[in-house]
Amino acid sequence: MTEDAIKKRLAFLAREIKAADALYYQDDNPALTDAEYDALRRENLALEKEYPHLIRKDSPSKSVGAKPTGKFGKIKHSVPMLSLDNAFSDEDVVDFVARVKRFLNLPDETEMFFTAEPKIDGLSAALRYEGGKLVSGATRGDGRVGEDVTANLSTLDNVPKTLSGEGWPEVLEVRGEVYISHAEFAEMNAAQVAAGKSEYKNPRNAAAGSLRQIDPNITASRPLKFFAYTWGEVSVPFAETQMEAVKLFGDWGFSINPQMRKHDGPKEMVEHYQTILLARAGLGYDIDGVVYKVDSLPLQERLGFVSRAPRWAIAHKFPAEKAITTIESIDIQVGRTGSLTPVARLVPITVGGVVVSNATLHNADEIERLGVKEGDMVEIQRAGDVIPQILRVVEIGGGQPFKFPTNCPVCDAPVSADIDEKTGRQDVVRRCTNGLFCPAQAVQGLIYFVSRPSFDIDGLGEKQIEAFYEKGLVTSPADIFTLRDRNAEIKLETWEGFGETSAAKLFTAIDSRRTIEFERVLRSLGIRHIGQGNSRLISRYFVSWERFRAVIPELENGESQAVAGLLNVDGLGQAAVSALADFFASDANLKLLDDLAAQLNILDAEVPTSDSPVSGKTVVFTGKLERFSRDEAKARAQSLGAKVSGSVSGKTDYLVAGPGAGSKLKKAEAAGVKVLTEDEWLALIA
Ligand code: IVH
Repeated sequence: MTEDAIKKRLAFLAREIKAADALYYQDDNPALTDAEYDALRRENLALEKEYPHLIRKDSPSKSVGAKPTGKFGKIKHSVPMLSLDNAFSDEDVVDFVARVKRFLNLPDETEMFFTAEPKIDGLSAALRYEGGKLVSGATRGDGRVGEDVTANLSTLDNVPKTLSGEGWPEVLEVRGEVYISHAEFAEMNAAQVAAGKSEYKNPRNAAAGSLRQIDPNITASRPLKFFAYTWGEVSVPFAETQMEAVKLFGDWGFSINPQMRKHDGPKEMVEHYQTILLARAGLGYDIDGVVYKVDSLPLQERLGFVSRAPRWAIAHKFPAEKAITTIESIDIQVGRTGSLTPVARLVPITVGGVVVSNATLHNADEIERLGVKEGDMVEIQRAGDVIPQILRVVEIGGGQPFKFPTNCPVCDAPVSADIDEKTGRQDVVRRCTNGLFCPAQAVQGLIYFVSRPSFDIDGLGEKQIEAFYEKGLVTSPADIFTLRDRNAEIKLETWEGFGETSAAKLFTAIDSRRTIEFERVLRSLGIRHIGQGNSRLISRYFVSWERFRAVIPELENGESQAVAGLLNVDGLGQAAVSALADFFASDANLKLLDDLAAQLNILDAEVPTSDSPVSGKTVVFTGKLERFSRDEAKARAQSLGAKVSGSVSGKTDYLVAGPGAGSKLKKAEAAGVKVLTEDEWLALIA
């Protein structure tokens, strides 16, 4: 090649690499595979090595290392970012108000205030201020740990960098929703089309994509807005009511929603819901319901939380949006737990701004109930992120009735139905009986294993797992952790979609998850009924993985101490304990577990320590409580680290007895258990 040709080639490479970088990092939309990209970079480097005098000023080799990692730092939420329970009807709202009063032991007729405000369909973010200055900003993440998007959030016009007014706490974490208005969403999509890029599905996706940009300049160019509606950590209480708190946010420089109102009961609350529903189309941004919150902050504090949602708030969702389309075919999908789910493949149709091409048919009973067949015209509905549902057949298409398979469509093993232990009846869900030997279950299990709520391995998603599984390289979770050692054979860097950089990145991501919390390991196994909540309970009960592993052989025996101990864990039910026992009754699953554990350093569970005087004590409540409902008393005791039991035994530390206490009181006295009145109990925990 002549020097002139080399120069041209270097110019070409600089251009191509720059364009590929822009697509990859700015638009989350790579044009080249990693292998193609790496080849360009390698060629550039080789030419530069041979012709150093031809190295361009804007050579891509000078920007090596400028290649951003694609990853944000993590921020732990000191107060978890919770979600909301849903109400779907006016009755649900009436029930919510009654439930709140019952929990607080207040008569039904007690006057109580609730705020009502639109539920913004965006993504939540937390902004931390210290001394009135914005110091960090995070996404919600899994509610406990989010991504550090401080630089990006500080580009939003209505996120104050410095608080205005006065009276804000020294530490103040304001939370709210990041969103994009309809008009600006339309402009963004027009620009995407003009640039030959694909359109965003809806404003929420556009907002999420815009916020999670590696380059904050890009976020700055996007029309993101923020509504403040709640808070996390604060150094001192700063308000008495929800309404007052949000008004203060307004004084301190935040945008607050103008539709927020205060009401004194369900009747007014649902009237306001109707008002907001009517106003919805003209608001200029997406909302998907109305959020009601108990106005009094001391009452919110007493109400507290159940699992992932506060007892003091609820989201009253808007009715789902509907459309009519045709079923092209009905397929069966095999899930992680072997469940066979019929899915209708639809002629694509836009419902509420999103193109829908699949709808779930749940199970055989549902197909029969709806009477749907391939070729039928059906009415479908889509509510938020829920998988679209089929409501009814509008016109029959003349197809044959759907025959539910008696064998797994993937591995051909027979399907079976669970028997409900309580009713003795067959469950409607059919499951493939082949466990992890069924490729569909194995792959779904592995996808779940690497997913965000589980091992959260960056760069390992559905596509990669499927490819590894097909080639027989990853058939069990432990295999993921031996990939690096086997790479001399595998040569991941030569695969389509991988280059040297991404292969190296993947191995690093895998290695970084070798040290991992007990709770996460357990939940990643995808055992039925053993999700996040139950995994946490189990890990806190055993503390160390070794102690848990040691009792597994005992689980098969329903009478064993291990089973009794687990059943005693507050919040852990029979279904979870049986599912755990069933899972480990299989030698294949035990092997899977041990192979995996051999690759990991499993951290002991962090058991919340409490210096409360009742921490670790077992308490029984009996008789009529006058100051609190039984539920509140129980929740309060648990939050202080006490175990609440329903019956008196040798293990009981305190019996709290109200008027009308009977046999439990006698038993406690006989057993020498300390008996307290409600007031004595309150004095003890005060
Ligand atoms: S209050 C402790 N208020 O809805 C509960 N949430 O489905 C704090 N959301 O994660 C949430 N608008 O992202 C609240 N006016 C509003 C909201 C709102 C939208 C989102 C929020 C939350 C999700 C729960």
